[in-house]
Amino acid sequence: MSSLEILSNSTSSSNSVTILGVLASGSGSNLEAIANAIAKGQLQAQIAVVIYNESDAFAKQRAEKFGIPAILVNHRDYKSRKDLDRSIIELLNQHNVDLVIMAGWMRIVTQVLIDAFPERILNIHPSLLPSFKGIHAIEQAFTYGVKITGCTVHLLSLEVDSGKILKQAAVPVLANDTLEDLQKRIQVQEHIIYPLAIAEYSQTLAS
Ligand code: GRF
Repeated sequence: MSSLEILSNSTSSSNSVTILGVLASGSGSNLEAIANAIAKGQLQAQIAVVIYNESDAFAKQRAEKFGIPAILVNHRDYKSRKDLDRSIIELLNQHNVDLVIMAGWMRIVTQVLIDAFPERILNIHPSLLPSFKGIHAIEQAFTYGVKITGCTVHLLSLEVDSGKILKQAAVPVLANDTLEDLQKRIQVQEHIIYPLAIAEYSQTLAS
């Protein structure tokens, strides 16, 4: 069975649509993969809002392409991480968000955000957790010389990259790989497992 068939099956038994709020700081390719899965009817969800914190984040353009409201919340305008999180919570609640999807969100969150959406914040990380936590995961795995790495969708916890694992994909490191080759191959897998994980986790929450 293909990934897409699994995706369709995992969403077909429920008609409920999960309202997503996506947090992105950069390119937004995972945002686009999720939006595509929704557009193709493979994921019974709606992205109500994209929140981004860097004014030049390409995620904004990707959101607009899909007609999704994109709101800039510049962390530099806030005195503390908690204040930033409070502002994000307000926006997510205004858009009736059920699940918060971190897609390359490069800010450390506080307990304030976690408490507002308990077990309802998902993140994607480019390694097979618990190996290679933190922002240089791909580079560290590559330099270490691992033969298999990958990506992980997990629930967000206060400790970085440490929440419950929901889904993983393994990616082999090939003999002639450059860091960029490996990065691209990991992202291909991210774009497959993130929509799948959202579909499956939505089902779990609904059952
Ligand atoms: C992804 O590689 C993800 O694993 C990491 O940040 C990157 C975001 O990429 N957390 P994009 O903005 O979705 O293209």
